Amino acid sequence: MKRIAIFASGSGSNAENIHSYFKPSSNVEVSLIFTNKYDAFVIQRAKRLKIPVVVMGKKEFVDGVKLLAILKSLEIDLIVLAGFLLLIPAYLIESFPKRIINIHPALLPAYGGKGMYGMHVHTAVKSNNESSSGITVHYVNEKYDEGEVILQESCQLSPTDSPEEIAAKVQKLEYDFFPQAIDKALALI
Ligand code: GAR
Repeated sequence: MKRIAIFASGSGSNAENIHSYFKPSSNVEVSLIFTNKYDAFVIQRAKRLKIPVVVMGKKEFVDGVKLLAILKSLEIDLIVLAGFLLLIPAYLIESFPKRIINIHPALLPAYGGKGMYGMHVHTAVKSNNESSSGITVHYVNEKYDEGEVILQESCQLSPTDSPEEIAAKVQKLEYDFFPQAIDKALALI
């Protein structure tokens, strides 16, 4: 059995989609949802889906002692960032080498880096009149959005697309391809 911990700071719709994808599997399980936000909607999803959930503020997360102990005790193989907005501290990257992956809602290296998340990304894509956007799934290193790419998928944009319409197209790609990218990363563990 391979065990995934999903880190999310917001709604958690990707977390739910990933859980649904792996639910029929006897080889892979979403064993934990971790969030740094005490009011994140992902907590309600985790409870409904009966996935153990841990909430921890930034200070405790950066300190790491408690989180590392939890991840070790659950025998987590892969950490999946699905809308997780804090920078991953060095202790986690050292403890999970090539075992932390992130999804970014654009075609990196474009529209990446600190402050580029969620609707900020789609608004910037719209401002630049891009004809396409997409998703990037990549390994995580100490810098925002810079690790080795695992998968990219793109979508065409129309000049009339609003940032919300761009977000919807990108979200569809996330639901269709993020679980597959996780499978790909798991196969190498
Ligand atoms: C997703 O679109 C994800 O790509 C993005 O946050 C959203 C989370 O949605 N991540 C980033 O922008 C990271 N830089 P969700 O909470 O509904 O899964």
